[in-house]
Amino acid sequence: MSINFDFSGRSVIVTGAAQGIGYAIANSFVEAGANVAVVDRDEDRLNEAWNHAGDKVLRLALDVADEAAVDAAVASVEAWRGGPDVVINNAGITRDVVVWKMTAEQWRAVLDVHLTGTFHFTKAAIPRMRAKGSGRIINVTSYTGMHGMVGQANYAAAKAGIIGFTKATAKEVARFGITVNAISPNASTAMVAAIPADKLKALTEQVPMGRFAEPSEMSSAFQFLSSDEAAYITGAVLPVDGGVAM
Ligand SMILES: NC(=O)c1ccc[n+]([C@@H]2O[C@H](COP(=O)([O-])OP(=O)(O)OC[C@H]3O[C@@H](n4cnc5c(N)ncnc54)[C@H](O)[C@@H]3O)[C@@H](O)[C@H]2O)c1
Repeated sequence: MSINFDFSGRSVIVTGAAQGIGYAIANSFVEAGANVAVVDRDEDRLNEAWNHAGDKVLRLALDVADEAAVDAAVASVEAWRGGPDVVINNAGITRDVVVWKMTAEQWRAVLDVHLTGTFHFTKAAIPRMRAKGSGRIINVTSYTGMHGMVGQANYAAAKAGIIGFTKATAKEVARFGITVNAISPNASTAMVAAIPADKLKALTEQVPMGRFAEPSEMSSAFQFLSSDEAAYITGAVLPVDGGVAM
């Protein structure tokens, strides 16, 4: 399910692309003609998921929290097909526990992946996008970052931080033809499958559309904000969530 955008010749980085929403988005960009660098720290799953991909896909196994690895990855994408023209900061984890039982490791792990990983890829991409006079950065936030969720203080802080980061960065780079936006998704993935059944049932009932989406239903929004047609949209937070964030 995707609008027919043409990303031929464009170079796109998608983090967390071994499964779930990241895989679906990356796949939709490949179908739209882009050269896609698929990033994930789970090397086995990345190789399995993209085993049959052709020469339009570059696999990069790394941890988005590792600044040196991210810098090297963005340089390798530039050497491979130029750009990047589009960066989608999607990699994510959860370490759910109430805040008074949360270890510093559980706190740091979640902030490192979501917030610091988003910072690393954004920082590495901007000089290259500035040189081209255009670029699209899309960060992935969450309902939890806007409204909170029991057991997710670390994740809520990271996802709320991503909204502030998106807006500040959008203001800094708007004059260079670069847009920075955030999407708040809601889709059936491994992350959602890890939620206990009774809690998942309650969460599903809160969605006005009464269901979680398929990951592929996220793709058209990511493609739209990555397109030339979205050149005047920046600093926005777009919910693609069946209405749950209303
Ligand atoms: N599924 C939802 O309903 C939902 C709702 C709101 C926000 N989100 C966000 O959407 C994004 C994708 O979630 P998903 O549901 O597809 O999750 P998922 O668990 O299915 O996939 C996440 C991917 O990120 C990778 N990853 C994790 N840490 C990494 C790291 N340090 N470096 C590189 N890769 C790493 C994982 O290996 C995995 O392949 C996340 O940012 C998540 O917080 C999802």
